[in-house]
Amino acid sequence: MTSNLQTLQSLEKLDPREEHFHIPGPVEGLRLFLRYLPPSQSTGSESKQVLFIHGMSFPSALSIAHRLDGRSWRDELCDAGFHVWGLDFYGFGSSDRYTEMDQPAELNPPLGRADEAARQIEYAVRFICEQHHLSRISLIAHSGGTIATALFAGRYPELVERLVFFAPIARREPKAAEPQRFPAWRLISLKDQWERFVEDVPRGESPVLSEQHFQDWGERYLNTDEDSRTRSPASVRTPTGIIDEITAAWNGRLGYDPGRIHAPVAIIRGEWDSLCTDADAKSLFDALSASPVKRDVKIGRATHLMHLEEGRHALYRETQTFLKGEDKPMSESTLVHEANTVAIPGYSYGSSGVAHSPVTSEELREIEATLGWTEEDAKVLQRHETIFKNNAEYMVDSWRAVIGAQPHLAKWFVGSDGKPDDEYKARVKKRFVQWVLDACFRPRDRAWLDYQEEIGLRHIPEKKNQTDGAHTPAVVPLRYLIAFGTTVATATRKFFVDAGVRGEELQKLEDAWLKTVQLHITLWSRPYTKEGLW
Ligand code: HEM
Repeated sequence: MTSNLQTLQSLEKLDPREEHFHIPGPVEGLRLFLRYLPPSQSTGSESKQVLFIHGMSFPSALSIAHRLDGRSWRDELCDAGFHVWGLDFYGFGSSDRYTEMDQPAELNPPLGRADEAARQIEYAVRFICEQHHLSRISLIAHSGGTIATALFAGRYPELVERLVFFAPIARREPKAAEPQRFPAWRLISLKDQWERFVEDVPRGESPVLSEQHFQDWGERYLNTDEDSRTRSPASVRTPTGIIDEITAAWNGRLGYDPGRIHAPVAIIRGEWDSLCTDADAKSLFDALSASPVKRDVKIGRATHLMHLEEGRHALYRETQTFLKGEDKPMSESTLVHEANTVAIPGYSYGSSGVAHSPVTSEELREIEATLGWTEEDAKVLQRHETIFKNNAEYMVDSWRAVIGAQPHLAKWFVGSDGKPDDEYKARVKKRFVQWVLDACFRPRDRAWLDYQEEIGLRHIPEKKNQTDGAHTPAVVPLRYLIAFGTTVATATRKFFVDAGVRGEELQKLEDAWLKTVQLHITLWSRPYTKEGLW
């Protein structure tokens, strides 16, 4: 890998192939440290990039890159074809120290709180994207590091592919007592770390952290601060911004809005983790309302420090499975659209009640190829996002006017009393409007495929009427579904023209929209057909 930025020679490499980078960050004059290890074998275009964000007390060298019995979490990811990056926040590991860390701790507020830490992550992600010529990457974040990571992901959804939240911090109800106030930095000794590392293991259970592993880890931990051994006891000077954020979250003030995260998220946690309990995981899972794919994975016999424990291999596996999932967004340029979908009755995108689509990613690629879908089509739609955003409702009105004018179409909205069911029409319309945006801007991942199956089913007896408790005819015949595609595709041109799109760009936009509509009808037709004939 080449870089116009300084590649460091002096720091100890944890692997002969490891590369080190010092890059500018949000604080003028202070450099951030990134370590990088390429995949073990060249995997070509299949390879993926992932950045690790550490938690409140130890940097990348002691977490993702730290070898236990000769193997690190990073080694496992590299063997699985990942490019693995690790960031050290300011004040940690090999990143520059805040100047305030040379002053008495009481003189300054906590250093490295979520807002600024999120900007450090932004610098790192933009740098990595530039290095790999990518538009987005995945991130793994640990503990309090999830707060800044999530804040960043909510601000820049276009830069984030997938998120693994390992032992994340969730919001808890405020306590009566005033939360603890932290000075700018604190000292952490090996005794502090050991006690914290083992305190969650229930009495009577055998240890999950080996003392020998901890001893080796501890020596390396003390190496992260050149003055650590001059103190008694030996201890590492550590910024307190992250622990301050954790305390705030447990007093009702989580430093980000989970509803703003649009990337797939896996919460992975240990059974005994008192910092991420079942209740914490559930509340965070539920609050991730806009994430199209969510997982909550609980691993037995593990704590908040699972990556250093005997259960670490399960953590490695779950992380890889999620990051490699076949529900990968179809194209890098497909942007998740921001939408307040909570207010749409019956819209259940990404929820557990949605049908499962048997269509594989491979089949989806083949259908896309068959109708000539390209990366450029995704980009064209994205270029004209505001046309769809501003006009989705009017588009639906114009298509529905065509249905309303033809009794053989309008009858599928007529109730058992023989009258048009206006309430049903109004409820379906909201979902139809959302579909326009989803069709153009949702990543074509597993959640998206499942929802196409669901929409297909909602046109046939299996699910028609059920969402709204309506009593209209039980099926929209396939012949109309297919034939109506032409109206939806062509009657939309006028909106593009009215928005001032002309010439070649107009043609491209029309083509991209036509292909989008055709793709959806193709997928919706699946539940109509006999097994094996689709
Ligand atoms: C290209 C053609 C079509 C498109 C893009 C389309 C799109 C949609 C969408 C997005 C929904 C809402 C799904 C949801 O619940 O989230 C829906 C539902 C519905 N569509 Fe279509 N549709 C098409 C053809 C038709 C035709 C030709 C008819 C009948 C004339 C029709 C009647 C209905 C009805 C009655 C529902 C409500 C189903 C239910 O009870 O849940 N659709 N359609």
